[in-house]
Amino acid sequence: MKIIILGSASNAVARTAELIAQKIRSKPDAVLGLATGATMLPLYDALVVHHQRGLSFAGVTSFNLDEYVGLPAPHPQSYRSYMNAALFDRVDINLALTHLPQGDAPDPEVEAMRYEALIAQSGGIDLQLLGIGRNGHIGFNEPTSSLASRTRVKTLTRETRDVNRDAFGPGEDTPSFALTMGIANILEASECVLLATGKSKAKAVASAIEGPLAAICPASALQLHPKATFILDEDAAALLKLREYYLPIQPA
Ligand code: GLP
Repeated sequence: MKIIILGSASNAVARTAELIAQKIRSKPDAVLGLATGATMLPLYDALVVHHQRGLSFAGVTSFNLDEYVGLPAPHPQSYRSYMNAALFDRVDINLALTHLPQGDAPDPEVEAMRYEALIAQSGGIDLQLLGIGRNGHIGFNEPTSSLASRTRVKTLTRETRDVNRDAFGPGEDTPSFALTMGIANILEASECVLLATGKSKAKAVASAIEGPLAAICPASALQLHPKATFILDEDAAALLKLREYYLPIQPA
């Protein structure tokens, strides 16, 4: 695992954007795994700036990690709407090559299989971008998700629903279920990059990197991945015991 600790959230975001831009430059038809959440909004802004400076997304295929069950794509709080607004409508990506699980599919289990087949057909994910939940979830793989889990419907914890409620209108509750890639799918990506910023992520980040490999912290599964990079700001890195070891090893 590569642990990169940067002085500010904006530096962590810029480094992550640079990594993704490099991937697209070296492989213009890259298959990207994308994530949502507040952490990713400045990252997508940074990718838009890369695009304005000449980076083309025209050949890129994308697969998002997850979508709320029950929300049709045009719903303002769907992750499809989030992705369109945050990135897809602002760059030259071919919308037909952008994929998210269909939240309102009549049979979510069939949808999960369709989504996995589509990822396989595309040749698999070259670079999987990840955020981390305060409880250590990745995608919507909540604590105690099997480390061998595949795309499926997952019940969201009360904590996750409360944290994500901000995106919903007053009086509107967060959906109880999500369709999410499983931990096994995430580990199949050629490369994983997890971006975490802010104090609220420090405990989950420390468990993921330095805690035991355990389903109680789904992000700890990245310990099994041969090419996983954590990009952190100082706040998110605050509880790491081996900070002094990680610091000098950071590539420029
Ligand atoms: C949601 C998403 C995750 C994301 C997490 C953290 O639960 N499904 O992919 O990592 O939120 O979000 P935030 O960046 O808002 O803290």
